[in-house]
Amino acid sequence: MHFKRSQRPISVWRPIETDTFLLGAPHYPEHVDESYLERDAERMAAAGFNVTRMAEFAWHIMEPREGQYDFSLFDRAIEVLGKHGISTMLCTPTATPPRWLTYHYPEVLRVDVNGRPASHGSRQHADTCSPVYRMHSRRITRAMAEHFASNPNVVGWQTDNELNTSTSLSYSEATRREFQIFLEQKYGQIEALNHAWGGDFWAGAYQNFDQVVLPFDMAPVSNSPGHVLDYHRFLAWATARFQSDQIEILRAVNPDWFIFHNIGKMVDIDFRGPFTRELDFMGYDFYPLLHDEMQRLGGPGLLQAQQLDTARGHSGNFIVPEQMSGMGSQPPFSTLTPEPGEMRRMAFSSVSRGADGLMFFRWRPAHFGAEIYWMGLLDHDDHPRRRYEEAMQFATEIKSIKQDLLGSHVRMDVGIAGGDFDNQEVHPTYPMGLPSPHEDALVLYAHCYRKGIAAGFIHPEDDLTPIKVFYVPHWLIWKDEWTGRVEEWVRSGGTLVLSARTGSRNADNHVIRDPAPGKSLSDLAGVTVEEFGRLAPINGDGLFPHTRDYGLNGRKSPAPTESSTRKYTLLFGNTEYTAANMYERLRLLDGAEAVGTWSNRFLESEPAISVRSIGKGRVFYIGTYLTDQLAEAFEAQILRPAGVTPLIQDLPEGVEVSVRENETNRLLFVLNTSAEERIIRSIPDGKVLVSDLRGEGSTVLPGYGCHVVALQA
Ligand code: GAL
Repeated sequence: MHFKRSQRPISVWRPIETDTFLLGAPHYPEHVDESYLERDAERMAAAGFNVTRMAEFAWHIMEPREGQYDFSLFDRAIEVLGKHGISTMLCTPTATPPRWLTYHYPEVLRVDVNGRPASHGSRQHADTCSPVYRMHSRRITRAMAEHFASNPNVVGWQTDNELNTSTSLSYSEATRREFQIFLEQKYGQIEALNHAWGGDFWAGAYQNFDQVVLPFDMAPVSNSPGHVLDYHRFLAWATARFQSDQIEILRAVNPDWFIFHNIGKMVDIDFRGPFTRELDFMGYDFYPLLHDEMQRLGGPGLLQAQQLDTARGHSGNFIVPEQMSGMGSQPPFSTLTPEPGEMRRMAFSSVSRGADGLMFFRWRPAHFGAEIYWMGLLDHDDHPRRRYEEAMQFATEIKSIKQDLLGSHVRMDVGIAGGDFDNQEVHPTYPMGLPSPHEDALVLYAHCYRKGIAAGFIHPEDDLTPIKVFYVPHWLIWKDEWTGRVEEWVRSGGTLVLSARTGSRNADNHVIRDPAPGKSLSDLAGVTVEEFGRLAPINGDGLFPHTRDYGLNGRKSPAPTESSTRKYTLLFGNTEYTAANMYERLRLLDGAEAVGTWSNRFLESEPAISVRSIGKGRVFYIGTYLTDQLAEAFEAQILRPAGVTPLIQDLPEGVEVSVRENETNRLLFVLNTSAEERIIRSIPDGKVLVSDLRGEGSTVLPGYGCHVVALQA
């Protein structure tokens, strides 16, 4: 395979520079006896796979006693696979240290909020902040790297496994000490920390860094938001440092290896920082049939698409090192099961939204341990059945489109601000029962997804040129340095939409002393916020606690009444809407005009939504939160005038659409995420690459059917 390390900075538009679509399955030779190895390799090759991933939980096999290494099982497995044309990606095994390590060095265990150390036999129980654990991590990484340095079948590495997915938190002694060192380096003087954390509120001031404590959730009332934000900044920094240790060793031993990490939950990772910059590309694991999340998001298609688009917004095109193939389960829960054709549909969805490689999790299910019902491509009885057949079909199809696909990015007309660590973390330090920026973003995202509008996530530091509309969902921390480049983009024709509370805190998490949205954005949007207050969410139970449902899925609670919720309404485009979550009282400055007005109670006739034209573009300010109904108006009043139209018209329910393109190629993916057939009347002509369309005029897309067509670029 040919892989080139990208010289381009992190960007949503950045593809992986390779000629190979990595395709395969995570493989656990340590779970079966060696008589399986040859047959496994033959079957992977017959399926059309070119790669496998191994060893992420096998430290105890590779280092059975401290300092004694034995890589022979993996040598043999890698060799057998190599003979069948299958390469291997290895993993540093640091998610599961051997028992001798946690026994002899118990200080490496994470400690929970009650002071209880984690137990052995689980995973991610070792504290990535611990200097002792970092020393062992470097040791096993070096031993593995040196052993496999010249093995031609080892092509790349995954660092650890889903860092922070099980937990990112630790309250161990080591964490506290490292936190203090981090803070001392950041602030230099304790007075600076006291200022940042608001030490004069509730006697939070310290005399020196040794006194600084970790912020427990309940202590017994909330901690300073500045303290909490810095704790999460520290966790993200320590996570990146832990990974850096490993990357440095792997790169020094063999610079030709590619290195990635497989992200699970996107927790306490700063995707624009060294964590991503030091990797060659990112991997994201997807399990789209987690029932509760599907419920919240109205189906597996939307759940998966938003995860994929969020991921791509963080770091550009990626691989999917794990994508569910069958039912998944651990003792407390299980997922739904992909129906025939659905696993392939999910794989195409991943590809359509930025995957340049994909592994079906997992090759076979384990017969023991905490995931015995996490099904693989094979079954427990070692028989390949429908999931294996489907993987084989996908392999043939991906081969046929690979040439046109690789090197392309995903088209995006509507960019939603995403991927900013501070803005993600600042919200939970003081949520006030409001939707997070991402939850609010999903209201607009879901609307675009259902309409077939190319929407995704992008950071303001990224190249905004290709997008037409940029929506900023309540980013509390807005850096002034972003304003200039965003303004330039607006002047050349972009439409910027700012929403309530944007820019109202500073980097220390203090409320700013100017009116929101702060000097530079006020000048840009022509508006200042004079007053703000909470409103009940649509269909929500009240202002507190945070309900995590914002009209995406129509909760069944009784409709709010005038007396229970104090309904506030606004007029936008001649229609009256009920406002949710927050109102703002706006004062318009020179050049701005109201396009939406409050229409009842004490705000009646005052501006609710403003617009200001600058150069060829426009800046809107929305003094409230989006609802499903307002998102409709958003499309009519903001997206359409900005030239945003659906990729295909009249998209039937359950069908999703996405485009991957570059200067020479343009692939349109039309995928049926539902089990029922759908009629699609308006697919543009082009060279058909993959198609399940049938019926008169080829308009019927069967349940889970896929259609990929190359359009004129
Ligand atoms: C992922 C993890 C895998 C496996 C899978 C199913 O989070 O990386 O090792 O556990 O989930 O639970």
